[in-house]
Amino acid sequence: MRYFIGNWKMFGIPSSHKILYKINAFFKRDKNNKKKYKIIIAPPFTLLHDFSKRFKSSKISISSQNCYHKDFYGAHTGNISPFMIKKLGINYTLIGHSENRASGENNKLIGEKISLALKNKLSVILCIGENKIEKRNKKTFSVLKKQLSQSITSKKYLKKIIIAYEPLWSIGSGRVPSKNELEKIIVNIKKYLNKKFRLKRKNIRILYGGSVDKQSVLNFKAINELDGFLIGGASKSSKNFIDIIKNFYK
Ligand code: PGA
Repeated sequence: MRYFIGNWKMFGIPSSHKILYKINAFFKRDKNNKKKYKIIIAPPFTLLHDFSKRFKSSKISISSQNCYHKDFYGAHTGNISPFMIKKLGINYTLIGHSENRASGENNKLIGEKISLALKNKLSVILCIGENKIEKRNKKTFSVLKKQLSQSITSKKYLKKIIIAYEPLWSIGSGRVPSKNELEKIIVNIKKYLNKKFRLKRKNIRILYGGSVDKQSVLNFKAINELDGFLIGGASKSSKNFIDIIKNFYK
């Protein structure tokens, strides 16, 4: 099963549900591929309730973009707990996106978010990735290992986590890793987690994110161990998002 996950970031108003209806209509028509992939869209908090109701009986799943790390309710102005998200009928949340890490979220906090999200029966899409300087200094894998080991603390957690490898230098920049570069990283992450948690490699799911569009997706078709994509900019248009899926299976 592959995943095509759209991260809308700070985008969308109530009428943006039209984008999802178009994606859903494509998915229903796309009989050949139905069993091969899953679509998840992460709109901002403001649209979660409406989208969750609208797409309840469709095959599209809705995800939150983040969640708070403690309590059901509490004196945490502006924050939303996993409990509150789950009660909307939502089953997924992104955690650890680099744009949230940039505003102060560290691996320990991200670990607390993961465990509370899982306790509330949300599946987690955990974002990891190195920045340009770390890449230049050949620190990519040590950065990824640290992000993984400090935030995933148990094998039972890992089963409910989809990892999204998103190099910071690629997000929104139009630059993507080469096929070989990406394949090596995906395989290395799987080997590392397989060794650490004794979980079969085929049960570890890793997506790629960063400037995925209908062109760049073609580079990655041949990577067997890649389990899908986390798509930012191109997920805000139904056409761009659908073209990615079409090109991937063409
Ligand atoms: P992008 O963003 O596809 O616009 O590069 C990806 C992400 O930040 O999740």
